[in-house]
This record gives sequence, C-alpha cells and structure tokens, in this order.
Amino acid sequence: MSNDQFGFTKFSDNDFYSNINKALINSLDLKSDLKIVDLGCASGGISKIIIDKLQNTNSINSSIIAVDHSKDALKEAQSNLRAVSDSMITFVQSRYEEFSSKIKEKVDLVVLCNAIHYLDDKELVIKDVMKILKPNGRFAFNSSFFDGAHPEDTKGFYRKWMFKAMKILSKEFKMRPAKADKIESRVQLTPSQYHDVLGNCGMKIINTKIRTVEVPLDGWLDISSFKDFIEGIMPGIKLDIASQCLQKAVKETFDEMKITFVNRNWMEVIAVKS
Ligand SMILES: C[S@@+](CC[C@H](N)C(=O)[O-])C[C@H]1O[C@@H](n2cnc3c(N)ncnc32)[C@H](O)[C@@H]1O
Repeated sequence: MSNDQFGFTKFSDNDFYSNINKALINSLDLKSDLKIVDLGCASGGISKIIIDKLQNTNSINSSIIAVDHSKDALKEAQSNLRAVSDSMITFVQSRYEEFSSKIKEKVDLVVLCNAIHYLDDKELVIKDVMKILKPNGRFAFNSSFFDGAHPEDTKGFYRKWMFKAMKILSKEFKMRPAKADKIESRVQLTPSQYHDVLGNCGMKIINTKIRTVEVPLDGWLDISSFKDFIEGIMPGIKLDIASQCLQKAVKETFDEMKITFVNRNWMEVIAVKS
C-alpha cells in the first residue's frame, strides 16, 4: 500500500479548511513583487491559495518558495501545482530547523500554516524566520493545535472518539499503540505563550485572532487518513489499520451523539520583524 493515500491532499481539499486558510491569506493584503516562503507546504494547498490571491488582484512578479521536509509531501505539492510556472514557484526539501540556510535570498513574508505545533523548539525556528526576513518582513501562522483549540463542550466528543478507536484496535486487531514520548503537537501553547515566544525572537504581533470553525464528519474522516495525525494518535500501528479504527470510531461517535459537526478554534497570528 503506498503512502500517497495517507497524504494531506484529501483533508486540505475540505471547504472549511481552505476557507480558514484563505481568511489568513486575505488578511495579509498581498501586493506585487513579493518573495514568499510557504513553510511546511505539504500538498501545496496554501501556495495555491496565495497564487490565486496574487492572480485575482493582478499582483505581478511575486514568487513562492514552498518548503517541506517530506519528499512525499513535496511530490504531492509539485503534482497539484504542475500548472504553475517555475518562475512563480520553487520547491525546497528542508526541515524547518535549517530552512534559512537553503534559501539564498531575503523574503518579505513567511507563512507557516497548520504546522507551528510540530516545532520542538519554536524559538529556534522563529529566529531562523527572522534571519531570512527583510526589514519589516512578516511572519504569519495559524494552528488548531493550541491550548484553547477545543471548546469546552467538544471535549466529550474527543474522549468518546479516542476511547472507541482504541477499543476497535484492541478488539478487532488485537493491538495497542506503542508508548511514545509526548509528541510536540500535543504540547500546546496558549496564545499568550505564543505572544511571548515571538517577543523573545524580536517579532512584534500586529494581528491575532481566534476563529471558530464547524468541522463536519468528512473533515474528521479525512484527517484520520493523514499520516502525521494517525501516527500521533496510534504510534507504531500500520497506517491502514489505525486509519480504519479512527474512521469507524468517529462515524460511530457522530451517530451516537447525533451531531453533524464539531466546533474547533483556529488561532491566527501575524507578526512583523521589528
Ligand atoms: C499539517 S501539514 C500543513 C500543511 C500546510 N501548511 C497547510 O496548512 O495546509 C504540516 C506539514 O509540515 C511538515 N513538517 C512537519 N515537521 C516538519 C519539520 N520539522 N520540517 C519541515 N516540515 C515539517 C509535514 O511534512 C507536513 O507536510
């Protein structure tokens, strides 16, 4: 079974997801002649939103450098964005922690969507972002993995879903996940801790917002087929088995709770190199 089916394209095609990312990109007021880094580009969804925005506003001569550490993700992005000219987008394989050394020019904007929670050492990476930004350059990020992402009345949903998924894994497959060190996407900072981290790196926040999104069943089913998500919840379990358990469990949870969506908060932050 290929890893492609556990890529990010399916999830990132969900309307609610592209809308929340479009909201961030729209608030950046993009103009002509910008050099932009899409850090953690995965399947290229954010680069596509930026390109559409630039084209719709007749912003010319801007270009994007799409960075991801995963070869599979970059392949997906290149395929999804094959219609875009080479002068508009280039792809760089790099870990966040060393990306600035692989980019030769200073840039106006670094966008890090839905990925800051992966960073073990956020200051290290943000200092790297600072290195590559021009004076007054901007750093924009969003995430739904922060302390505050789960509205209080949705916590029962997660408990039920995870309990059911582990039960299916143990009953139907006679397996249990390996014990993993606490993964970084579970070590969640509050918005005010993010504020401090940015301040420590010499960045000034110019805009911050929490948006609440209704995530339908399809969103939960699709995130349950994304490799990074699956591995975070069921480390050591084969992707196809873990994915089946998570999907079956979330369907049952929606049925039992008689719900059609679950609210999730997205934090968005725009900071400037001061
Ligand atoms: C959840 S996806 C987000 C994709 C995209 N930015 C979006 O908002 O739709 C996170 C991406 O970060 C990448 N990633 C995770 N850890 C990384 C690291 N240390 N360095 C570079 N990329 C990393 C993963 O490969 C994945 O493609």
